[in-house]
Amino acid sequence: MPPLKPFVRNDWMEIRASGPEERKDEAACLLVASGCPGVLEEDGCAMAVVLAAHSLSVAEPVGAPRRSTASCTAYLAAKDLHALPALKESLKKIGWRMASSPYAEEDWSLKWRQGMRSMRVSCRGSSVVVKPTWGRAKISDGEAVVEIDPGMAFGTGAHPTTKLCLKAILRILKDDGAAPKGLLDVGTGSGVLAIASARLGVKKVVAVDIDPVAVRTARANARRNGAGISVSNTPVERLKGLYPVVVSNILAGELSRLSRHIAKRVAKDGRLILSGILKGEEDGVVRAYEPLGLRLLRTYTSGEWAAIVLVKAGRA
Ligand SMILES: C[S@@+](CC[C@H](N)C(=O)[O-])C[C@H]1O[C@@H](n2cnc3c(N)ncnc32)[C@H](O)[C@@H]1O
Repeated sequence: MPPLKPFVRNDWMEIRASGPEERKDEAACLLVASGCPGVLEEDGCAMAVVLAAHSLSVAEPVGAPRRSTASCTAYLAAKDLHALPALKESLKKIGWRMASSPYAEEDWSLKWRQGMRSMRVSCRGSSVVVKPTWGRAKISDGEAVVEIDPGMAFGTGAHPTTKLCLKAILRILKDDGAAPKGLLDVGTGSGVLAIASARLGVKKVVAVDIDPVAVRTARANARRNGAGISVSNTPVERLKGLYPVVVSNILAGELSRLSRHIAKRVAKDGRLILSGILKGEEDGVVRAYEPLGLRLLRTYTSGEWAAIVLVKAGRA
């Protein structure tokens, strides 16, 4: 592993939280909503990486007994410490408890980097491999490779919500027999979906994120991968143009709230991939998009997560 720059020291609070396993995703969402850029789940010596917005165990040992109590660790920057009391209350409401202490000694980015692994998503004979810039992966002929350093942004490629999007993108390419001419990625995070799309042959890829850290990170990753994509912080409300494919991996509530603006960017016959939706929330999201001329084409699921693919009126 290359030497890492200690970019955060002396100004973090370590939060250790535990509670019923079935509310783990909600707990991670609460931690992230309070300002924690990442959440770690520790399981024996294996460490699972969870980055912003959702929780995922990516290193669950095969055959390990399922525990009813889950625990995770997250870090809150000093500037966000005011969020601690409300966070404690919110966790309590879902049966989770937390303890916190100042965290000065270690560079936490090193901790989660050690847990990040390469991963592969395949669909009908095509695959994308997402690997950390410092990691290794066995690549087969014809596989698209994306090298990612997510830094403080979401998007290692390992989260189910990201994987479902990659799968949906691969399926669209297969069904159409060619890469779409353009793709818009709303909420690009590390840029993983946008860069993968460019690597798969999409000519015009536009990616946006409201988080300036994500924009910087996605640009750096795009350069690293030689992907000529446009990355900006333009709010979706101000975006122009039509795209044959639009992808957005944000939480269900936000997808519904932004439905009018996201739907507007989908070209006639175009496909819209929406992810970050907890199972059971799909219908609500579909209902937000149906009156805007989009109908449900298919649903993908993984664990507690669902992603939906909609099509704009015109496609049979
Ligand atoms: C779950 S991450 C997805 C990252 C990446 N696309 C992936 O699939 O791994 C969601 C991203 O959406 C961004 N985001 C949240 N609300 C947004 C909005 N209204 N407009 C644009 N980006 C938004 C967040 O900053 C975050 O980077």
